[in-house]
Amino acid sequence: MSADGSLDTRRLRETLGRFATGVTVVTTFCDATDDETGGCGQLPHAPGQHAWGTTVNAFSSVSLDPPLVLICIGRERSIHPVIASSGRFAVNILGEASQQLSDCFAGAPSALPRSAFCDAPFHAGPGGTPVLDAAIAHLECTVEQAVDAGDHTIYLGRVIAAEADHDHELPLLYFRGRYLRIERMATSDLRGKPDV
Ligand SMILES: Cc1cc2nc3c(=O)[nH]c(=O)nc-3n(C[C@H](O)[C@H](O)[C@H](O)COP(=O)(O)O)c2cc1C
Repeated sequence: MSADGSLDTRRLRETLGRFATGVTVVTTFCDATDDETGGCGQLPHAPGQHAWGTTVNAFSSVSLDPPLVLICIGRERSIHPVIASSGRFAVNILGEASQQLSDCFAGAPSALPRSAFCDAPFHAGPGGTPVLDAAIAHLECTVEQAVDAGDHTIYLGRVIAAEADHDHELPLLYFRGRYLRIERMATSDLRGKPDV
């Protein structure tokens, strides 16, 4: 706590950083012909659909029936108005070979061009969102609810398509502000309640 009793932001970041996560790129299309802004934010305003993406680790499963997930997107993020306008997004789960993509989509210094979707090969999925070919799994969602939450918006997404690819590739991890890779993997029997 600081002198005035408020919680120190650096301490909060350090504490939250102890929670290891995977890394995703949240993507959506904007349509520059839509309206004045086209929902395309800072993108070049060439007419037509543009793919846009942002690195996100604030992602969680919420419900299986109905199938719901959530992502938290900072209000200042360039993708924030694009999702608000398109009403849909894909969550692309990155494999350990995709650290460069994570950096690029986070706007970190990168040899890849962010304005050209980080040169990432992708295709439009059945849910109408850009799906990264490199993703080890992806979910396509429509926005079910957008909840204002401090400096972020919680987008609750209804999953309309989901696929796990690249079975052999391990996920990219994030912990205390650094990327991690799984070095050792031990498998153990599942002791939880079995799926029905
Ligand atoms: C590993 C990692 C995880 C991130 N997770 C989130 C997140 O969950 N939500 C968010 O709003 N920004 C997150 N960010 C930050 C954004 O990716 C980054 O600041 C943003 O893309 C840059 O803003 P811009 O899109 O406006 O250029 C994360 C960045 C990294 C490197």
